[in-house]
Amino acid sequence: RAPQLMYMHWMNTMVGYCGPFKYESEYCEKLRSYLEANLGWMEEQMGKGEDPEYWHQVRLALLQLKGLEDSYNGHLDFPRGRVTLSPFGFLLLQLGGDLEDLESALNRSSPRGWPSYQSMLRVIKKYTLPFRTSDGGNSQIPGSIQVFSSYPGTIFSGDDFYILSSGLGHSQCWPCPPPSIWGADSLGPTPPNHRYFEEIFNASGTPELVEKYGDWFTYDKNPRAQIFRRNQTLVHDLDSMVRLMRSNNYLQDPLSRCRGCDPPQNAENAISARSDLNPPNGTYPFPALRQRCHGGTDMKGGVTSSGMVPSLALVAASGPAWDDVPPFRWSTSPCSALLHMGHPDLWTFPPIKVHWD
Ligand SMILES: *[C@@H]1O[C@H](CO)[C@@H](O)[C@H](O)[C@H]1NC(C)=O
Ligand SMILES: *[C@@H]1O[C@H](CO)[C@@H](O)[C@H](O)[C@H]1NC(C)=O
Ligand SMILES: *[C@@H]1O[C@H](CO)[C@@H](O)[C@H](O)[C@H]1NC(C)=O
Ligand SMILES: *[C@@H]1O[C@H](CO)[C@@H](O)[C@H](O)[C@H]1NC(C)=O
Repeated sequence: RAPQLMYMHWMNTMVGYCGPFKYESEYCEKLRSYLEANLGWMEEQMGKGEDPEYWHQVRLALLQLKGLEDSYNGHLDFPRGRVTLSPFGFLLLQLGGDLEDLESALNRSSPRGWPSYQSMLRVIKKYTLPFRTSDGGNSQIPGSIQVFSSYPGTIFSGDDFYILSSGLGHSQCWPCPPPSIWGADSLGPTPPNHRYFEEIFNASGTPELVEKYGDWFTYDKNPRAQIFRRNQTLVHDLDSMVRLMRSNNYLQDPLSRCRGCDPPQNAENAISARSDLNPPNGTYPFPALRQRCHGGTDMKGGVTSSGMVPSLALVAASGPAWDDVPPFRWSTSPCSALLHMGHPDLWTFPPIKVHWD
């Protein structure tokens, strides 16, 4: 089943991206050079012997990816020395949201956007990888059992939702800084990270967007931030947390209102967006508020609690929100022409508790 899932997920989200027809061939060549340079740079770092613990783990991750590629292709190509990954193979599936940033930094002429509804083939993974540290000794890495929300063919979460056997739970920032912060100048072989939010916010050009379009572009006054601020006190257990994380009541919620939109109530302006529900003939001040095949497709990966982390348990929900809005159905949605191999037509799945006993 895994190879079929990987195939279908690839078809739904990646086929033709830089494939045989390569209609964005200039961009694709730049992307290939970038990815090759990035792989080369990692190889170089691994050879240098600086920070060996870190680079040893990077190498193991690359070998894991190589193993995935080999098993999918049905032959073993055990690397001696260099890890030879093809830039447009499984590596492309691992890039996730970085691809958006690379598209803007490498001047792709028609940005693809994030294929959110097409990426709804999902897998909750549990990896047991008893890796050792690089000293060749007997110390096993902490967190060698990893549970995370993921996708077929990716070796990481993509949603940044992890529970580790070391006891660490991790979830990502959201909304995250927009892609425009990576100007071509700042694009080194590794993306910048761990910068201060405000500095990023300032550098991103977002203050100009706030000036032009208002609070929607702020991190503290956009509709989602305001809904969280208003509703967070209603969260008192796992069920109410799940309800809030999956909520979208845009027709009734005054915080889903968009000034300058016709119609004024906007389905993007909710905790779990449903941009497919916005009418195509509406008037919208900027593209994110239009009708799009885009929205929340899970629950930011999953929800867990301090009581559940020791058993690596979580609650997960798949598909667009449907508590207070009609469920998503491919065939009657404006997205029906998009490839969605292996998907059910109607998305009415309740949250599930994932446990491993
Ligand atoms: C992208 O376009 C800008 C503006 O035309 C140019 O300055 C920059 O060098 C281009 N970047 C790449 C990687 O081609
Ligand atoms: C961001 O910009 C604001 C307004 O110009 C300024 O007051 C603030 O100090 C800046 N913050 C950082 C971290 O650069
Ligand atoms: C959020 O708060 C509003 C206003 O109090 C309430 O009507 C709504 O039911 C709440 N939604 C959730 C999911 O908690
Ligand atoms: C969009 O089209 C619908 C159905 O044809 C119509 O009822 C509605 O008034 C239109 N809305 C706008 C904002 O033009």
